[in-house]
Amino acid sequence: MNLVYEKLMTCVKSVKEKVDFCPEVALILGSGLGDYADEIEIVQTVDYTEIEGFPTSTVAGHKGRFVFGYVDKTPVVIMQGRVHFYEGYPMSDVVLPTRLMGLLGAKKIVLTNAAGGVNFDFKPGDFMMLTDHITTGVPSALIGANLDELGVRFPDMSEVYSKRMQEIVRTTAKELGIDLKEGVYAQFTGPNYETPAEIRMARAWGADAVGMSTACEAMAARHMGMEICGISCITNLAAGMSKEELNHKEVQETADRVAKQFKALITGIITRLGE
Ligand code: HPA
Repeated sequence: MNLVYEKLMTCVKSVKEKVDFCPEVALILGSGLGDYADEIEIVQTVDYTEIEGFPTSTVAGHKGRFVFGYVDKTPVVIMQGRVHFYEGYPMSDVVLPTRLMGLLGAKKIVLTNAAGGVNFDFKPGDFMMLTDHITTGVPSALIGANLDELGVRFPDMSEVYSKRMQEIVRTTAKELGIDLKEGVYAQFTGPNYETPAEIRMARAWGADAVGMSTACEAMAARHMGMEICGISCITNLAAGMSKEELNHKEVQETADRVAKQFKALITGIITRLGE
């Protein structure tokens, strides 16, 4: 058997031994949203360290566990703390949790992150709904023998972020009085922030925001036929766009400042997805 698939199935089996719960929606929490999972109706949690073969996260401030429970009436699995490529894991490990949540039954996935604003119309604290992405800055998560059990060798990526879910996000944001931005997210490896030249390049490519996650997860989710939506919290202007140097503290502070609104948006979206 393919080693990547074998590892994935070991993790799925390990989780299924501990949890008997079928989620409808998967959610990956980005910076600032980490404690969202504490506020839902929790049925069960599984620490990543309890899962055989699971890549455990090393980022400070990221809790590493799956939370199973309900947002309103929607059964969810939440990834509290994601795995990043810059931690040194192969891409297949980075997307393993996404695939695992899909194999547990989640047909839809909500991806969230903190991102730098590349579009001159964005300001820190804005929310951007992903309409598309650029993964040219990172290796494809689908490199290697194709996992035929999950999807086809050459998957179509012409609508990664579902138009139906985009409409749900727009409606929910409007209802909450949020001035939702929309745009293209470009993923780079990190952990360093980009240079001003890289940001100019990203803008020329058509990116509106940049970050170090999400697009690879969306690609893996799309490969296995999940319905996807993505929302970025624009925590800073990208490199070269302001006089300030970039730092993680600023990213966290902005994310924390708008966390309440971000959480309301996520709750609204997931509630609608369960209807
Ligand atoms: N670049 C990359 N990742 C980020 C940024 C950024 O400016 N802000 C938050 N995550």
